[in-house]
Amino acid sequence: MSDKVMIFDTTLRDGEQSPGATMNIDEKIRMARQLETLGVDIIEAGFPIASKGDFESVRAISEAVSDIQVAGLCRSVTKDIDRCWEAVKDSPEPRIHTFLATSPIHMEYKLGKTPDQVVEMTEAAVSHAAKYTSNVEFSAEDASRSEWDFLVRVFNTAIKAGARTLNVPDTVGYTQPHEFHDLIRYLMEKLDMKDDTVISVHCHNDLGLAVANSLAAIRAGARQVECTVSGIGERAGNAALEEVVMGLNTRKDLYDIETGIVTEQLYPSCRRLSQIIGQPIPPYKAIVGTNAFAHESGVHQDGVIKNRQTYEIMTPASIGRHGTDIVIGKHSGSHAIKRKVEELGYTLDDEQVGAMFDAVKELADKKEQIYDEDVEASCSKRFTVAATSSASRT
Ligand code: KIV
Ligand code: ZN
Repeated sequence: MSDKVMIFDTTLRDGEQSPGATMNIDEKIRMARQLETLGVDIIEAGFPIASKGDFESVRAISEAVSDIQVAGLCRSVTKDIDRCWEAVKDSPEPRIHTFLATSPIHMEYKLGKTPDQVVEMTEAAVSHAAKYTSNVEFSAEDASRSEWDFLVRVFNTAIKAGARTLNVPDTVGYTQPHEFHDLIRYLMEKLDMKDDTVISVHCHNDLGLAVANSLAAIRAGARQVECTVSGIGERAGNAALEEVVMGLNTRKDLYDIETGIVTEQLYPSCRRLSQIIGQPIPPYKAIVGTNAFAHESGVHQDGVIKNRQTYEIMTPASIGRHGTDIVIGKHSGSHAIKRKVEELGYTLDDEQVGAMFDAVKELADKKEQIYDEDVEASCSKRFTVAATSSASRT
């Protein structure tokens, strides 16, 4: 079994379903480029049939990225699949991601279909998608509330029809880590897996277990994890990408699994998203919150001064937080400004630093305290997407 787990980022699709997280096309392209720099394997760029805007942004992202798989989501119906392919086909490695519900409650009340009809629809949808590409993913929506043997039947149908990736979503965040582990094990045993078949998981956070369930699934053999930056997503969100990745990295002794993620890009990616959607990262958020490396109690401070590892299981630098206390204000020089924007994920040339220097001075005349958010907003407003990317993000 591969010792690499693929990171499938759905910030631009499931993440965007988070209230208040709607992004316009330029913002999505900026985020997609950041995800490429971060090293994710697959970007789910949107749901092309959902609207003209969604279609256009999936198409634009497909053209904007250079070395990454781009997936589009579609229901298991012909017109959705055709539209999806139209949107992703010009990407470096297009993927069609088609889904269909398999739980008794979804089949009866949402779809109005019998289990046999769902199997037939799976066969028809995956075969149709496989005419366009061999890179087809099939998701059994609400898998964690589906009957296990029915899931085996549906997934085996999907494999036979040409699906390479089989996704097991915990759509409503209902499952528990040990149960999800056992389900993935069961599927690994019962499915007619081919050499290139990959089991994927997609966990929601309704009970706060999305990351724990994803990690349990990896231990059981899942080799693709679907997640979002900062865990944004429908309702309580999805598994947080940075938490899954740092869980695997920090406990390499347990998992012994690699990802392609450049961990130093985790913090810049969360900041970039926060700045784009205009929502701050909660201070208590694991890994990337302001307090994640702050030590308040005297006992802890004493320990950290003697040896950081007494109370720190990872370094701020490993996720791209430089931990400097550079405070930007009226008296800051260009070196401090350059360093600060680097911390925020930008690498600027001298002329761009000069422009930021002037902008900060101007701001300092109007505002007593300048926060990182102010510097970041000014930086992203000042430099166009092209300038920012040619300046390359750190
Ligand atoms: O939560 C879910 O089931 C989904 C699927 C469409 C993958 O987002
Ligand atoms: Zn979802």
